[in-house]
Amino acid sequence: MILCSVGPGRGALEIPGVCRELSRSGHSVEVVLEPGARNFVGPAAFYGYATVVDKPSGPVEAVLFAPATSGVLARLARGLGDGAAAGVYAAGARPVVVAPELEGGTSGHPAVRENLDRLSGDGCRVVLRDNGSMPGAAELVAATLGSLGGPLAGLRVLVSAGGTREPVDSVRFLGNRSSGKMGVAIAREAVRMGAEVSVVAANVEVVEPGVRWTPVETVDQLRESVMALAAESDALIMAAAVSDFKPASVTRSKIRRSEGLDLELVATEDVLKSVRRANPELFVVGFAATHGDPVPDAREKLGSKGVDLVVGNDISQEGIGFGAEENEVYIVKPEGESFVPRASKQEIARAILGDLAREMTKERRT
Ligand code: CTP
Repeated sequence: MILCSVGPGRGALEIPGVCRELSRSGHSVEVVLEPGARNFVGPAAFYGYATVVDKPSGPVEAVLFAPATSGVLARLARGLGDGAAAGVYAAGARPVVVAPELEGGTSGHPAVRENLDRLSGDGCRVVLRDNGSMPGAAELVAATLGSLGGPLAGLRVLVSAGGTREPVDSVRFLGNRSSGKMGVAIAREAVRMGAEVSVVAANVEVVEPGVRWTPVETVDQLRESVMALAAESDALIMAAAVSDFKPASVTRSKIRRSEGLDLELVATEDVLKSVRRANPELFVVGFAATHGDPVPDAREKLGSKGVDLVVGNDISQEGIGFGAEENEVYIVKPEGESFVPRASKQEIARAILGDLAREMTKERRT
């Protein structure tokens, strides 16, 4: 069971979302609402994801203190075990994640700095923004699951999902059938495996909680966001269906039927190739959607795009791929390929990330 100690502060509003993600990744969650916390969030907000308790009901796998006030930091650092969660900490429970929320100026105070250093020295993972505010739900989920040591713990994973849209005029666009389900399943699974996850989402309707979410519409916007985030990531999984063409010019108003329409298209930039060129250390996974046997196409893309893995699927088959709930893929690596038979996109995501984790470990060893 994961124990969350919720302190009084604006950050408390984020904690029900954090608990939902921890519970969705298979953990049971108990919440202690510290004095004053109920002014920000009530027990009903945790309904369905976590049990609000006075003290933990059994053994604790990990403890999250969020938001942690400077008073909580002091009590934890000085071994003052008053309060159920602080008592668990003082009794030696680990791993522990502490997410302070400090009023302006407090974070620089020497006593607060000393307490933070003591907590880090005592094996706590302290997650804090430079301005003293508490990080968002995505980071807290990743820090907590990562502290439990999943196969992607400590890695920053960037996923592109969905399908781009290129405007033709003020109402029309060139798009594709991608729903974003595969990319979102990968992002969700990566969080469960302990990674800190960012998603660049091209026209994906439902925002996935627990990740850093950047919505985009066009290829150019997707390229800009992926390029910026890739520089601070360890792995990129390029699941988005990116348009290969865009209109040579965009009409700002609506083109009328009476005007007729000759659409001139120009090729877009290959985002995957550009990202690979700019980030030689990044572990990159590409996708190849093919009619028929996907392996030769995937293998060709592995070389031409210079990526580490290519996930290939046969889009001519019914019930898998674009928009479907299931998929069936080949994961193609430089030294061979593996087949993942038809399964839910969540299970396919697990297989892809399992391969990614294995390959990245191999790379780090060599
Ligand atoms: N991709 C990209 N930038 C593009 C087009 C595609 O980064 N402008 C990425 C996709 O996200 C995917 C991979 O490249 O991971 C393969 O996409 P796909 O459309 O199958 O291949 P293309 O590179 O477009 O080549 P072709 O259409 O000729 O098969």
